Amino acid sequence: MAQNFDRLTAKPTARRFRWIAPTTAGQAPDLEITKAYGRGGVVVEIGCGVGWHSITYCRNHPEKIVIAIERTRDKFSRFKSRILTNAPIPNLIPAHGDALRLLPPHLENLSIDSVFILYPNPEPKAKAQRWIHMPFLDLLREALCPEGRVVFATNVQNYADEILATAPSRGWLVSKDKRINICDNPDFQPRTHFEKKYFLRGETLRHIELKKKDPS
Ligand SMILES: C[S@@+](CC[C@H](N)C(=O)[O-])C[C@H]1O[C@@H](n2cnc3c(N)ncnc32)[C@H](O)[C@@H]1O
Repeated sequence: MAQNFDRLTAKPTARRFRWIAPTTAGQAPDLEITKAYGRGGVVVEIGCGVGWHSITYCRNHPEKIVIAIERTRDKFSRFKSRILTNAPIPNLIPAHGDALRLLPPHLENLSIDSVFILYPNPEPKAKAQRWIHMPFLDLLREALCPEGRVVFATNVQNYADEILATAPSRGWLVSKDKRINICDNPDFQPRTHFEKKYFLRGETLRHIELKKKDPS
């Protein structure tokens, strides 16, 4: 039985969390993730929604293996339906559950080169739930390969600015901060449903990449 981790402190806990549902295919997400053990080029997408970006990324990067995690039952089952109606995607590992509890027990066996967190809920009233402040992000940094990166996308400008302001004190270097909008980038191709909605509304999208300050 994999060790459970508390979702906010990232510390091991004896508590059991019954609401981590198994995937609709009947495979436990833990078992799915072990398929990436010992593999190079592991990419993790947290909060993949219905999987548009994960599926496209897999198609464009057959050399990578993508663990795509979504905790909402409804979105995950729509993601599974898309997978079943597509041609087989051998490099995609869909996992239904909360990434904060699902990933930590596996991190020491994974060599991750990218983590995508695209349009996270901005959690304006809960600082501790914003990804840049979470101890979980420290665990991810440890599991990243030396040149690995965490990619954030958001349409919430103060959420983006907070990432930039906080990252250096949490052991990260900001390697990219791109601003995208329909006037300046009319040919931009949205990667997710949320991105498409905000782009078409004329909002400015931020694409931020963080790398380890001390690559090792
Ligand atoms: C605003 S939606 C964005 C979905 C998708 N990335 C997009 O851009 O269209 C945020 C998603 O993250 C998922 N999510 C939030 N926290 C999560 C966690 N700890 N583990 C897995 N999924 C999570 C939510 O269920 C939701 O589907």
